[in-house]
Amino acid sequence: MTALDVQVNSADPACPGQAPLLPVVGTGIEVPLVTGDSLPYANLDYAASAPSLQSVADHLSEVLPYYASVHRGAGYTSQVCTALYEGARADVAAFLGARPDDVVIFTRNTTDALNLLARCVPDDGPGGGRVTFLDIEHHANLLPWRRGQHRCVLAGTTQRATLVSLRAELEARPASLLAITGASNVTGEVLPLAEIVELAHAAGARVVLDAAQLAPHRRIDLASSGVDYVALSGHKLYAPFGAGVLAGRRDWLDEAPAYLPGGGAVREVTLTHTEWAAAPQRHEGGTPNVLGAATLAQAARTLSQLPSGALEAHEEALRTALTDRLNRLPGVRTLRIWRDSTTSIGVVAFTVDGYAPGLVAAYLSAEHGIGVRDGKFCAHPLLSRLGAPEGAVRASFGVGTTLDDVERLAAAVEQLVTSGPRWSYDVVDGRWAPTPDPRGLPDWAVSTTGAADRGTSPCEPLTA
Ligand SMILES: Cc1ncc(COP(=O)(O)O)c(C=O)c1O
Repeated sequence: MTALDVQVNSADPACPGQAPLLPVVGTGIEVPLVTGDSLPYANLDYAASAPSLQSVADHLSEVLPYYASVHRGAGYTSQVCTALYEGARADVAAFLGARPDDVVIFTRNTTDALNLLARCVPDDGPGGGRVTFLDIEHHANLLPWRRGQHRCVLAGTTQRATLVSLRAELEARPASLLAITGASNVTGEVLPLAEIVELAHAAGARVVLDAAQLAPHRRIDLASSGVDYVALSGHKLYAPFGAGVLAGRRDWLDEAPAYLPGGGAVREVTLTHTEWAAAPQRHEGGTPNVLGAATLAQAARTLSQLPSGALEAHEEALRTALTDRLNRLPGVRTLRIWRDSTTSIGVVAFTVDGYAPGLVAAYLSAEHGIGVRDGKFCAHPLLSRLGAPEGAVRASFGVGTTLDDVERLAAAVEQLVTSGPRWSYDVVDGRWAPTPDPRGLPDWAVSTTGAADRGTSPCEPLTA
């Protein structure tokens, strides 16, 4: 299969959600239950990390034999990989609708991309280096800005009121940059980007879009939207191979100090002087992640080939099916920031009265073979304002998800609400877990020098 020959499912467009929209790796894997049975895994954790598209895995297999260093190698495979890497940059630029002078920098992920941009905001331009953002943001779009001059605006109970507050803030205290998410990683609500860009530009501020969640679900067009910078993660875009992107206007990126001083970021070095390269190389010091970039670009090409509206219709069918059922269950509350938001991506967070979110997630995994995320989703201020300071459960989905997956989740939550769990659960090493937990891990996942360490999340303190 060649890079452009990807399989788009011909699922009946009249019945969105019945079948996966695109093939993803891992569909149908059986996972063990605490009862000793097994079930096909229902992966409803796409917002944390999405599975690899099949086309991405195929592309990886195709290019892997040619893997070599880029830019400085004269060997044939180095030339192949250099073309692959720079071609990936061009294809990502096309995917993002970049302007001719925009720069695409490969990073590790969205967090890395936003930290990089935080070092590039000039202090001497309009806005004096100040960055303004909302309190609903993921920590990745909040903490990097707090190192410098910043203002955090509290979102209102409607998007309308939120825009009024943003406009008032930017008029009262001009900013260099407005940092805004495209879609909430907690509720999935999509922000009114066109109006936000308009009000920011009217106040002289540039806009950076945190598209970690938006990019896998909606087309982004830098040129037509006027968004100045965009950050995204390959692992949320069906290319889980360690690359992310910061793309946008060249001037700030060319003028800022190199993000990772080292080999590749320079034109010339003497013992006393360094002549730095222009962006993107200026900020890509060290050996680049060629395969990460190539697979991210392959995911972008594949998603671009989806018929217009197909992704939106697929996800809306899943989302409606899930929220309709959850909202009918007593004691189950789906979370929402705004009363007037009109569109959402495939992310649904909810709480269940009487059950800690971690327990619900452990139950769904142990008794139903369903993977969701629980906790505060690295958005602690938002969870507090939503009245869920202990966290919530989040189901998230995408091109590989079907109605069957979300119906399994709804049925499992209904069973919890009506009959309770059938196994016992306790907090083990800081996380809710079935006790006992007879499920083993595959041999290859377990350390050969000790017992399996399932790890704890540094972001999510215990919610017992
Ligand atoms: C909205 C949003 N922004 C930023 C991030 C950070 O992404 P990464 O962990 O890939 O850097 C996430 C991750 O969940 C996110 O949901």
